[in-house]
Amino acid sequence: MTQNCAIVTGAARGIGLATTDLFLEMGWQVAMVDRDSDELTAVAESRSTVLALPLDVSDPQAAAQMVRETRAWAGRIDALINNAGVAEFGPIADCNFEMWRRVMATNLDGVFLCSQACANALKATRGAIVNIGSISGLRASTLRVAYGTSKAAVIHLTKQYAAELGEYGIRVNAVCPGPVRTKLAMAVHTQDIIDAYHDAIPLNRYGTERELAEVICFLASDKASYVTGQVLAADGGFDSTGVGLPALRSPR
Ligand SMILES: NC(=O)c1ccc[n+]([C@@H]2O[C@H](COP(=O)([O-])OP(=O)(O)OC[C@H]3O[C@@H](n4cnc5c(N)ncnc54)[C@H](O)[C@@H]3O)[C@@H](O)[C@H]2O)c1
Repeated sequence: MTQNCAIVTGAARGIGLATTDLFLEMGWQVAMVDRDSDELTAVAESRSTVLALPLDVSDPQAAAQMVRETRAWAGRIDALINNAGVAEFGPIADCNFEMWRRVMATNLDGVFLCSQACANALKATRGAIVNIGSISGLRASTLRVAYGTSKAAVIHLTKQYAAELGEYGIRVNAVCPGPVRTKLAMAVHTQDIIDAYHDAIPLNRYGTERELAEVICFLASDKASYVTGQVLAADGGFDSTGVGLPALRSPR
């Protein structure tokens, strides 16, 4: 039987790398896409059945190249994981157009371009797309005018794609992570933010990369064969709860 193949963007570290490793454990081959070519080469060298593609997902030509090279290598694409993302936080007054475009280019344009580029290959396998949103796309918060808006758009893009590609057997879902201690998060999470998250999350802690990978790979796999157009928050309960939770908790 031919081995399944996933494309994981932003695969050089963090949630994308953990997702790559879980796919490999599941017996899939993985095309690892990342614009950080040094980090990508280093992690790809220590893994087998992977293809390293040092590309920028916000470049339309790169998205086409990603599909060409993956098909030439594996002969098929069964899942696309749109995980590459950037976070830049700041007040609305400080969010100039360059910052807005930087965030949108990767977080939104990249998801659109890669999904578009993969659509025909996914029709052939009746494959799946999993987009990585964020709790910041589900609930508005301060400092996230560009990031939160990009992720809210990704959530809607997921539903648009699910609506149109369902007739080809392609499933499209989104995973919205809560905070995970990756390089991306640690660059924008001060100690105050970390403490506030702990208070606002019923499970009372950050998630791990592996916990996110488990949800992503589930949605990409046949185990989720009747699930499409859904948004799954893997966030320790953050999205489901309202304000005032710490005060209402029973003392430990
Ligand atoms: N860590 C968190 O707390 C958290 C929370 C919610 C959502 N997310 C989302 O999860 C996803 C993964 O984030 P992470 O925390 O693992 O981040 P990370 O910074 O550890 O990894 C992101 C990877 O994406 C790559 N990348 C960025 N822009 C790219 C581009 N244009 N083309 C190709 N590669 C690019 C980076 O080089 C990096 O290797 C992102 O979409 C992020 O928004 C993360």
